[in-house]
Amino acid sequence: MVKLGVNIDHVATLREARKTISPDPIEAARVCEDAGCDSIVCHLREDKRHIKDADVITLREVVKTRLNLEMSIAKEIVDFACKIKPDQATLVPERRREVTTEGGLDVKKNLARIRTVVCKLKEDGIEISLFINPVKYQIDAAIKVGARIIELHTGEYAVQKAEASRKKQLAILKNSARYALSLGLEVNAGHGLNYDNVKDVAKIDGINELNIGHAIISRAVFVGLENATKEMIGLIR
Ligand code: PXP
Repeated sequence: MVKLGVNIDHVATLREARKTISPDPIEAARVCEDAGCDSIVCHLREDKRHIKDADVITLREVVKTRLNLEMSIAKEIVDFACKIKPDQATLVPERRREVTTEGGLDVKKNLARIRTVVCKLKEDGIEISLFINPVKYQIDAAIKVGARIIELHTGEYAVQKAEASRKKQLAILKNSARYALSLGLEVNAGHGLNYDNVKDVAKIDGINELNIGHAIISRAVFVGLENATKEMIGLIR
């Protein structure tokens, strides 16, 4: 059964629009878990534009499923993660001005640095996932740095409008998942997935977990977070 990780960053984005205390991402995590999700995901960006240190600290205490912290490989963030010890750290590339994570992590190009970070986090008992583009050389690089899990970037698939190009991107995801599984990696996927495009990705053989944020929080505006989470679970299982 494909698992769902709900990314609650945009609950904090809304809170930060007014620099106030609501809506509370901690409350959001509780609602998503009660609705049946399998993990809570948040991205502690270096600029702390939505999720703050204090949110992660409280989430660590209250999350009953698994806490998956998306993070860059910047020293300050890695040190913080080692202190907080989320169940899982998903390493992502980060650029200050981007609206959201733009590409996958270039593991091949930054092999030594990423290997050091993976080792450090693993020593603290944190599972590591690498958010990478669905290409063979990044999957090979993930193995080289000692990761056990990858998250395939579905952004390119999600932006396709024409049926033929959507199918092409889906085939790339399928082939990448098959290849990664053959090497013994656990395969997750995410970015840009929504209620219309998620089913085909959930059907990819061997996909373990989908991490979804913006679509669920957006839908929650109209139907509530509990229903939005349940609807997504209904689609992917
Ligand atoms: N996975 C990763 C690694 C991400 O960086 C993000 C965005 O924060 C997501 C999944 C969720 O993407 P979306 O908000 O488009 O569902």
